Amino acid sequence: VTQPPDRASAEALDAADPLAAFRSRFPDPEPDRLYLDGNSLGRLSTDVEHGLAAAIGTWRTRAVEGWAEWVELPRRVGDRLADLCLGAAPGEVLVTDSTTVNLYKLAHAALDLRPQGVVATDADNFPTDRYVLEGVAAARGRRFVLADSVEGALQVPDAALLCLSHVDYRTGRRLDLGGITRASEAMVVWDLSHSVGAVAIDLSGADLAVGCSYKYLNAGPGGPAFLYVRRELQDALTSPVRGWFGQRDQFAMGPAYEPAPGIDRLMAGTPPVLATTALDAALDVVAEAGMAAIERKAASLTDLAITLADAWLAELGFEVVTPRSPTERGAHVALRHPEAWPICRALIERVRVVGDFRQPDILRLGFSPLYISHTDAWDAMDRIRTLVAAGVHRDIDAQLRRVT
Ligand SMILES: Cc1ncc(COP(=O)(O)O)c(C=O)c1O
Repeated sequence: VTQPPDRASAEALDAADPLAAFRSRFPDPEPDRLYLDGNSLGRLSTDVEHGLAAAIGTWRTRAVEGWAEWVELPRRVGDRLADLCLGAAPGEVLVTDSTTVNLYKLAHAALDLRPQGVVATDADNFPTDRYVLEGVAAARGRRFVLADSVEGALQVPDAALLCLSHVDYRTGRRLDLGGITRASEAMVVWDLSHSVGAVAIDLSGADLAVGCSYKYLNAGPGGPAFLYVRRELQDALTSPVRGWFGQRDQFAMGPAYEPAPGIDRLMAGTPPVLATTALDAALDVVAEAGMAAIERKAASLTDLAITLADAWLAELGFEVVTPRSPTERGAHVALRHPEAWPICRALIERVRVVGDFRQPDILRLGFSPLYISHTDAWDAMDRIRTLVAAGVHRDIDAQLRRVT
């Protein structure tokens, strides 16, 4: 039997890690905490702190005159995101609104281009996606099909619009974005929330996508979302939210709505300037590290976690549900356990391993590559095995809370 990697081998991986220095850009006021929830809310970098301070300074000094630059932010930061993270072209990405609202806008707009056919997704897709799609389908008189798996969703006959998560929020499974895009007859809208900033994405040829910035991009709580529309489709789309920021000549204050050319027509109202500035600063770190290196480190960290889970945690009742091939997963590892919720709480309260819980029985551990080391991953798995083996999770208050 081969021995599981010891702590020294994790230290050796860190010594050879080209991204190791980025950790110091995310100082943790609580050094003993092992923060494995970057898949939910990424941590604050000094870059973002300084970027926000600068934006507040502009607000203080320039007040309304700041809009001369701020008005360009959704496009300018969108272009950076397109280039650094999405494999998209300039003018194909906007940073604005929330993922939920962007999905709503794109789903409505896509159905204008496909006058016939059903709206489909899978039952495991993120709740907001399912709810939005069901609502849009009802509003447009289309049938909504909730397939019981991704494979089922790909087979739905007569699909006009198909929505898929690139990386599944629960299991961490990553889909073949390029292959599905090429094979699908439906228009596909990709939800990239759990893959952007974790793995390199190539949207070339894809029709539509949305995603958030507060997970692996570390833009902060409530950070703005993005939307992507393939260039050739843009001038055929109409936003269901006819706001003045999507208007051709915004400050003409004209009598009737006329959509702006290109992707700008998918703007609605005033964009969240401070939050978008935070994303701009967060992208400086991504630009320096590079998505290829970030993806390699995500693979290496999750490999180590899965190996240790197999060696130590299987006998304690855990099952790894995340795919074992790194190209088929993102940067989080999902462990199934019948007592996942009390274990999650005990880890946070007693040993400061901060992961999260997803219904009904999943403990999620996120290995955000810019600030998690291999030693952190090793220590976290070690604390989990010690805590569960001792049954500490049976002693804590296991009431479910509003936020899990
Ligand atoms: C896959 C996915 N889509 C959408 C969202 C949330 O969207 P919003 O930013 O609108 O709350 C999340 C949030 O965790 C998510 O994981």
